[in-house]
Amino acid sequence: MKFEPVAVAISGIVLASLGLFAQDRPTAEAPKFHINSQRLQGTLEKLSEFGRNPEGGVTRLGYSDTELAAREYVIGLMKQAGLEVRTDAAGNLFGRRAGSEKLPVLLFGSHIDSVVKGGNFDGDVGSLGAIEVIHALNEGSLKTRHPLEVVIWINEEGNHFGITTMGSGIAAGVLGPEILERKDEQGLSVADWLRRYGQDPAHLTDARIARGALAGYLELHIEQGPNLEAAKIPIGVVQGIVGLKRWGCVATGFANHAGSTPMDRRKDALAAAARDLLAVRDVVRAEPGRQVGTVGYMKVEPGAVNVIPGRVEFPIELRDLDAAKIDRMWDHIQEKLKQIDKEENVETRCTAIDDIAPARTDLSMQAAIREAAKSFGLATMDLPSGAVHDAQQMAKLAPFGMIFVPSRDGISHSPKEFTSWQDVANGAEVLYRSVLLVDSQLDRR
Ligand code: GLV
Ligand code: MN
Ligand code: MN
Repeated sequence: MKFEPVAVAISGIVLASLGLFAQDRPTAEAPKFHINSQRLQGTLEKLSEFGRNPEGGVTRLGYSDTELAAREYVIGLMKQAGLEVRTDAAGNLFGRRAGSEKLPVLLFGSHIDSVVKGGNFDGDVGSLGAIEVIHALNEGSLKTRHPLEVVIWINEEGNHFGITTMGSGIAAGVLGPEILERKDEQGLSVADWLRRYGQDPAHLTDARIARGALAGYLELHIEQGPNLEAAKIPIGVVQGIVGLKRWGCVATGFANHAGSTPMDRRKDALAAAARDLLAVRDVVRAEPGRQVGTVGYMKVEPGAVNVIPGRVEFPIELRDLDAAKIDRMWDHIQEKLKQIDKEENVETRCTAIDDIAPARTDLSMQAAIREAAKSFGLATMDLPSGAVHDAQQMAKLAPFGMIFVPSRDGISHSPKEFTSWQDVANGAEVLYRSVLLVDSQLDRR
């Protein structure tokens, strides 16, 4: 997408005609919200009841009864906003509002699934914020040129089946029928869960979005990091989203008596895995930059106080904006793991389980978000996203942009995750203004 001079002029007209120019207002006057912040807070609070944990926050995995119940609530909200609702073959939820011209769809939304013991803002803000934008357009009797679609992606977190951005990955054509037989811990497959969601697994690829069908993609999301709060900046303009690779590793040693096996005769899988974890950390820290690496859990067998661990299962995850750096770090980690195996008399095997390419946001989308925030009197900061998002799957199909709002203490994937209602409202208003700007600017030629 490129800004044509005519598009720049049009964006000025759009902002002015909608009364969106902050600088047109006397300075004492508060900026005028088009979205209804109380309604948005109310729907977010109601959504937080689905899968609520005693310590706060939710566990609402993608493809679960809890998510199914939450989506019924969201379908109701979409219908109240006048959207024409459909579910695709992967279980992604779409709500459509017609445009005035025959143009591809301008898509925006997020996800309502959470991690295990997650919070109430990750995904929910962008999902219900998108529906709130539709209400605001309806209340202003505004017609957009592009058809608009609100999307609620399924299983963004991938805590179920271990595939992050699963629904959007299927829609982008990156994932296909090869995932259907993947099983969860209850022995249910992706295909089983699709049937529970009313879909026919044989038609999974019908969920693919055709090339050319999308004009652009926008997503509002909490930052999930500390930068905006620390800088006291209400709106983040995302420059790019990190790529991620994950491996599932198994260290195999020998389970033996913890009392009678001398220290030099042991094949302790946990000792090796613990050293592997530290090796991951050392490699990731060895070069400058924002790259990160994590071993999120270890499953130790047999797991008894008086038995040397014979088998340990653990994942390794690496993230960076530069895909080549991820590969370079992985090469170093593998060398270290081999050395540790030798020293511990253990065998460690790792297989690739997830691979999401980094994605840069579209420069014109960035400019539109900046302009939208400015028209509402809000300062912006450019920053990368260390969390992955469905938006990076959409990058394969269309130009995309992301709006971030602050996360208190930079905490996310935790019941302590919090974004102030003012920041949530600001984000939704900037999404509303960005949708109008992008709608006016795209497909002008
Ligand atoms: C998803 O939120 C991720 O970044 O893992
Ligand atoms: Mn998210
Ligand atoms: Mn998340």
